Amino acid sequence: MSDLEIRNLHVAIGDKTILFGINLDMNEGEIVALMGPNGSGKSTLAYVLAGHPKYKVTNGTITFHGTNVLSLKPHERSKLGLFLSFQYPAEISGVTVSNFLRTALNARLTVPIKISDFIAKLKEKAALLKMDSALVNRYLNEGFSGGEKKKCEILQLAVLEPKIAILDETDSGTDVDALKILGEGITQISQQNKMGILLITHYNRILHYVKPSRVHVMVNGRIVKSGGFELAEFIEKNGFDSLKVEVKKE
Ligand SMILES: Nc1ncnc2c1ncn2[C@@H]1O[C@H](COP(=O)(O)OP(=O)(O)OP(=O)(O)O)[C@@H](O)[C@H]1O
Ligand SMILES: [Mg+2]
Repeated sequence: MSDLEIRNLHVAIGDKTILFGINLDMNEGEIVALMGPNGSGKSTLAYVLAGHPKYKVTNGTITFHGTNVLSLKPHERSKLGLFLSFQYPAEISGVTVSNFLRTALNARLTVPIKISDFIAKLKEKAALLKMDSALVNRYLNEGFSGGEKKKCEILQLAVLEPKIAILDETDSGTDVDALKILGEGITQISQQNKMGILLITHYNRILHYVKPSRVHVMVNGRIVKSGGFELAEFIEKNGFDSLKVEVKKE
């Protein structure tokens, strides 16, 4: 039995089915990559795991340590230890990064963290990601560059220390240096906390810094191929079309 188990998951938006029977297992401490072409359903899976109300699960189950995740509200899933980093992080005007993170952290704790401890923690994690310290006093993502938004997402990961994190295209919009800092940061955070990472990406560049033990490829809402790191290298070289998988488009 795995820590996180996704079984025969079918998901629809309105009348349109997007995911057709996804099966996926993950354990804490494990790094798994999910690749696939545009529109294949990767973000849909991420949103469903986080509990976005737009998506309807029409069949299948998701369990985390045996708990039925689908019956839980988004904040309950977060409290359970699941975390989603967004492909397109939202801006929240009027709420500073620091306040947002302290509120999110305290929502998970039985006793609120002391402000001085929180500030020390935030400083340490921001330094790990080589973030400009002024960013934490700005409104969440407002006016942030693409790379700054991605660093801010991973800062959340570092502060909240979930058990399993779904990272949706953390590499998109980042320059080579930021990619290295983010990748190495994610690996360090994962190892320190025995955190499981489901890394959604199109390219294998980030996978050199966040090394997956398994790689899954999704096409048209189905996982069509699974393998080791060599599968990501094959795709980088030959493209998704080269997998020549027969998939029905429904
Ligand atoms: N509200 C919606 N109404 C109709 N179709 C939708 C809606 N939201 C998503 N879809 C469709 O679901 C499919 C999967 O989208 P999703 O964002 O999960 O893909 P993805 O694999 O994350 O793509 P990308 O690599 O471009 O981020 C797409 O065809 C998309 O157009
Ligand atoms: Mg996506």
